[in-house]
Amino acid sequence: MKKILIINGPNLNLLGTREKAVYGNETLEDIARKTNLEAQKLNVDVDFIQTNHEGEIIDRIHEARGKVDVIIINPGAYTHYSLAIRDAIKAVEIPAIEIHLSNIHAREEFRSHSVIAPVCVGQICGFGSISYILGLNAAAML
Ligand code: DQA
Repeated sequence: MKKILIINGPNLNLLGTREKAVYGNETLEDIARKTNLEAQKLNVDVDFIQTNHEGEIIDRIHEARGKVDVIIINPGAYTHYSLAIRDAIKAVEIPAIEIHLSNIHAREEFRSHSVIAPVCVGQICGFGSISYILGLNAAAML
């Protein structure tokens, strides 16, 4: 069975209460539940994690080597400046998909630049929690 690691970065644990007009009402647990249901339909194995720490994201990417087929990552604000996460994705040579709830290209100028996107297969953003479902479907088809 295909193994997919979904990494959620900083502040995503606050979904449901955080900037609802931008990120919606669903909590990260709601999104995890939806994503796990989709995983059952697609017959893929999903590990859904969240951390506020850059180093832990990097450790999880390293640990995925040889164990995970595809990484889906919502790096939160690290998207815009973490060269260390970018280097980790590049180093492990696991296909990665960048996802965002919001359309990062339609917000503040600094959000439209992702340092992660160039080392990913592609980027999905702007669909709210559906970005996770779309990302999972893409991962299942890779
Ligand atoms: C986000 C977009 C980022 O710019 C922001 O820092 C986040 C959430 C999103 O999912 O829309 O924390 O990654």
